[in-house]
Amino acid sequence: MSENIVIHDYDLSRNDRNKRNHHKSFVLWFTGLSGSGKSTIANQVEVELFKQNLQVYSLDGDNIRSGINKGLGFTKEDRLENLRRIAEVAKLFVDAGHITIAAFVSPLISDREQVKNIVGQADFIEVFVDTSLEECERRDVKGLYKKARAGEIKNFTGIDAPYEAPINPDIHIKTEQVSVAEAVKTITNYLNNKF
Ligand code: PPS
Repeated sequence: MSENIVIHDYDLSRNDRNKRNHHKSFVLWFTGLSGSGKSTIANQVEVELFKQNLQVYSLDGDNIRSGINKGLGFTKEDRLENLRRIAEVAKLFVDAGHITIAAFVSPLISDREQVKNIVGQADFIEVFVDTSLEECERRDVKGLYKKARAGEIKNFTGIDAPYEAPINPDIHIKTEQVSVAEAVKTITNYLNNKF
């Protein structure tokens, strides 16, 4: 398929864009159960970085699964393809000079390894939004856990599909112990020496 593809060299590089923006670009990858608080924290981190005049953009389930990944479901294979495409998009945003925030369940260690390989290890920061299944189910903001328990949704992460917690995340947020504001502070403090 990719034969006869010749990559064209453009004059402007990521380095040029990083220099003009006065900061580096990388991916901040949030993983955690549905309802763990990924999007809430990611959203606030984006606002905080934006206020600091940094180039930042968020990729989230809503803008991805209703657009570029419309049609993909939640089987192991579909999730892998979902995350592969997201990683490729994130890589483009990083090349465009953006701090790219991605908030996806990304349930398997191998899913996240694939992302890391596509984005490049040096540009990948893993944030584990650690909320117990019990707490996610108690919150059940979207009512999906109730449906999954009733068998109305199949392959629901944590119920009848696995979630493998990161073993050594760069940032570990225990949402049952810290507020959203504290979580955001932890993340922005971590980023301070990455720019
Ligand atoms: S994945 O596993 O990374 O491909 O999933 P992701 O693209 O992040 O999509 C997760 C959101 O889709 C809703 N949803 C489900 N989640 C998990 N399992 C199943 N079967 C499922 N069906 C729908 C759910 O609302 C997730 O949103 P968040 O924001 O994570 O709560």
